[in-house]
Amino acid sequence: FATLKQSAQSGAPLYLQLRKSIEDAVNRGLIGPGDALPSERDIATKADISRVTVRKAVQDLVKGGILVQRHGSGTFVAPRMERVEQSLSRLTSFTEDMARRGMAVRSAWLDRGLYAPSPDEMMVLGLSSSELVARVARLRIANDTPLAIERASLSASALPDPAGIGSSLYAALELTGNRPVRAVQRISAANLGDSDARLLEVPAGVAGLHIERISYLASGKVIEFTRSIYRGDAYDFVAELRLTG
Ligand code: GLP
Repeated sequence: FATLKQSAQSGAPLYLQLRKSIEDAVNRGLIGPGDALPSERDIATKADISRVTVRKAVQDLVKGGILVQRHGSGTFVAPRMERVEQSLSRLTSFTEDMARRGMAVRSAWLDRGLYAPSPDEMMVLGLSSSELVARVARLRIANDTPLAIERASLSASALPDPAGIGSSLYAALELTGNRPVRAVQRISAANLGDSDARLLEVPAGVAGLHIERISYLASGKVIEFTRSIYRGDAYDFVAELRLTG
């Protein structure tokens, strides 16, 4: 960064020059995925430019998905995504899918509690307006990369304590004999809105996948109605097709 001020006469605005030199450093591998960027103040001092200029360059690179910002801990080179290949023929949980790949799973809670059901929750889960719905909303993270936002709704009678599920919803349902045995999953394209994009650490507006899963117990009763947003740059859903005759 130290050479920026001298080349300022070259014409391009300083923030564009800084943006390019950070981009070059990432492309040449001088700073790699997950590495922390020096603080705005350090960059400004070294390059002898204002912090406003540094901020503008950094914001541009965050928008472009080259850098990510984590509240309270700083700015980092965005992790390189390895796409996850997910079979569409097995009814598995996020925890099982990631563990099978040897990835470390964790979740950040977005919501958990009992609520009056919305009209679509009433319809899908077969609830009356006097019954409660249990909502479990989580940011799902594998190897420190946020992959999906999942919002599950279940009847409160099947999940009276949504805060008590631990790290896996399906493991908790298994304990009470409520693990689903069949599901219908609908996948559609979605562009990520601002708040979802921020949680998933991708630029707003990029492609995502909206996934709705309605899952059933052996008795045929609906147990789970989950709406999720998955990162479009992270997932391939794969199904095997057979000619049946
Ligand atoms: C998948 C499904 C969700 C399901 C979740 C349970 O991600 N798309 O519908 O709720 O798995 O995962 P876990 O048991 O890890 O909480």
